[in-house]
Amino acid sequence: AVTGPASMVLFGITGDLSRKKLLPAIYDLEHAGQLSPDFDLVGFARDTSNLETLLRESVAAHARTPFDPQVWARLKQRIHFHQGTFEDSSAFEALGSLLAQLDLLRGKPANYVFYLSIPPSAFETVCAGLSGADLHRQEHGWRRVVVEKPFGHDLASARALGDALEQAFEPSSIYRIDHYLGKETVQNILALRFANGMFEPLWNNQHIDHVQITMAESVGVEGRAGYYDGIGAARDVIQNHLLQLLALITMEEPLSFDADSIAAEKIKVLSAARLIGPLDQTTARGQYGAGIRDGVVLPGLAHERGFPADSTTETFAALTVGVETPRWAGVPFYIRTGKRLARRTTEIAVAFAGPTRGAFLARTVPVENLLVLRVQPDDGIELHIGAKRPGGGMNIGPVTLDLDFRSVFAAAPAAYERLICDVLRDDATLFPRRAEIELSWQLIDPVLEFWASDAQPDSYESGSAGPDAAAEMLGRSGRVWRPL
Ligand code: BG6
Repeated sequence: AVTGPASMVLFGITGDLSRKKLLPAIYDLEHAGQLSPDFDLVGFARDTSNLETLLRESVAAHARTPFDPQVWARLKQRIHFHQGTFEDSSAFEALGSLLAQLDLLRGKPANYVFYLSIPPSAFETVCAGLSGADLHRQEHGWRRVVVEKPFGHDLASARALGDALEQAFEPSSIYRIDHYLGKETVQNILALRFANGMFEPLWNNQHIDHVQITMAESVGVEGRAGYYDGIGAARDVIQNHLLQLLALITMEEPLSFDADSIAAEKIKVLSAARLIGPLDQTTARGQYGAGIRDGVVLPGLAHERGFPADSTTETFAALTVGVETPRWAGVPFYIRTGKRLARRTTEIAVAFAGPTRGAFLARTVPVENLLVLRVQPDDGIELHIGAKRPGGGMNIGPVTLDLDFRSVFAAAPAAYERLICDVLRDDATLFPRRAEIELSWQLIDPVLEFWASDAQPDSYESGSAGPDAAAEMLGRSGRVWRPL
């Protein structure tokens, strides 16, 4: 086993995230022999009837590894249900007794992870419940708390949330999940840059023309109106996932791999990140309308269950960011994300400046020099270069070198497997710090305010590449987005 003895209390065990990601990841960890036999999972829920069936079904449907009844039986013995509501202080007292019983039964220290997979509006209540029952205090073991986004909806609310968490828990025991950091290709950004000698010398404003960060989804809001309405694409994924990608692409080499060194470098570049304006020309937002995919008519957002017909929530967002450091001054970073786009892809495309002089320039039909880091679905790396076409003369045409990680490495663990394991092992390297989250809000708050003053986002057809305004945003500088 990789992890040591601990009990993890999961608040929100019946929620979407728990069922689709967290429980399957815990099962996969057990399958891989990574969980200590002294690991217990406690599901805290209002209604615990039928929970076992629900969990079994989620695991069977969503785990990475095949469902193995023996593995499930081993895990099931260590899953316990605790019925209660967040407002009821006696439920927290009873939780304390259950945890103490489990410790006694296994003869293990009181190591507890409190995993809050719940809406942020409930964070404070749960923290108060935990501290009211004295469960937050590190006695006879350690305490860690894991929180899921959204970490607020703007800078002020993010600060308030940070304060509430830090009132109950030590800052170093708070783990903020950004599941993108658990993805292998995202971690590979640092390896690619710093473990190789050939990219870093070019990784600056002398040689890079611009960078495009794209997170395109083909799915819509998938019944998540309660979470998504009023939140929108920029808060949902730019504030966290995509700005984390920006930080990893632009940061300086960390002194070591430890959490403090990496956070220090990310914080520096996030502090130097600026919006490039004017915002009516350098940002774009949209909301998906109806469309047809594979012969099926897909409804527009305004007709999705739970959304008001006049919802102003954006499902597409794009912005232009600069990083004011000597390395990056002058390089635009174009960030875009959207739901119901033509296909699912997350990638970072680094566009190098082409040759500006010399005999070859005249021969070259403009060839793109691109390094594309594909995060998903097919994680890999592409290098787009120009090469001579066979035959007489010197005719240059575009070619692509394409590395598919899955053909060279075994299947990667899911992001949540890695992150849950890291929490249990006290490795905070892949978790954003409070300062990173606040700097990210500080960066996008003005865009959100600007959009708030504009009644309705532009509509785009489901299955398209997003609103026209996105293409225009790049077109102004003579550039185009990578095709979706
Ligand atoms: C989540 C967002 O953080 O990331 C979702 O809340 C989005 O709206 C999801 O669909 C995408 O994750 P992934 O790993 O499929 O890219």
